[in-house]
Amino acid sequence: MSADDKYPAESGRRRFVKGVVGGAALAGVGATGAVSINTLTTATGAGGGPVEAMVIERVSGPAPHGMPQVPVEVDDDGYIRGIWPEIDTEEVDGVEIEIAREELGGVEYSQEWFQYCGNEAHEGFEPDYDSDNYFKSDGLTSYEWQQDEKEEDERFNVTDFEDYEEWGNDVGSSGVGKPAATTWRSEDTEDDIPVILLRSPLIEEAAEDNEWLQASTDQGFIAWVNVCTHFCCVPGYKLAPDAHRYDAEDRVYCQCHQTVYDPFSISSALYIARPRPED
Ligand code: FES
Repeated sequence: MSADDKYPAESGRRRFVKGVVGGAALAGVGATGAVSINTLTTATGAGGGPVEAMVIERVSGPAPHGMPQVPVEVDDDGYIRGIWPEIDTEEVDGVEIEIAREELGGVEYSQEWFQYCGNEAHEGFEPDYDSDNYFKSDGLTSYEWQQDEKEEDERFNVTDFEDYEEWGNDVGSSGVGKPAATTWRSEDTEDDIPVILLRSPLIEEAAEDNEWLQASTDQGFIAWVNVCTHFCCVPGYKLAPDAHRYDAEDRVYCQCHQTVYDPFSISSALYIARPRPED
């Protein structure tokens, strides 16, 4: 079997749709993992609690659940940005708090999806953080194409991904999709929020008949917060030369303890969002 045969578009799509349809069942897996996260939850702070998020599925390794998707849209000039939910005020235990939350593609999308691993304290995840929401090129990227073509903090345009149906590097198969390492909602913050942006023909095809994917992806672009739900390392997509040892050469691979995530299988995961620090 050639490397390309390992990831045929046809079977990738089937697996992907199955992941979406099977979301409710997979929520149970997420709930199990929530136990370990819950022990880290502090008693004080704003928001937090059980949340059902759309994630790229964890397929093996010690991480408790998948990594949360960032819904994506392409603007009229072809620049790609994440969608941040509408801000609302609600009362929790007699205290009014602001929360970014909205219905999107039949799913309740909320900032709580990102409240894990200390991200809950990140300025960029405050509901009203002033950001244009565009994905920007990070300063550390290991993707050669990005090093050659993008300046740090430069936005991404669909024209950067024109070769997405053929693109490949030394890791895994060509034609699965073209990635970029980005930051999101991190314009004036101390640390960056790492997000992988991927344009893939598999995503484009799967979105044709799926309400959530139609709402959360655009022209084959999908994105996720790239912080491992185990001990918060930053995993790699098609970066680690040894990823094939874990069947992860075309998946997201966390080298810290070998968790593997599948960006072509989106599922729902139930976990406990950590509360934001009190203002
Ligand atoms: S597998 Fe442990 S931090 Fe990712």
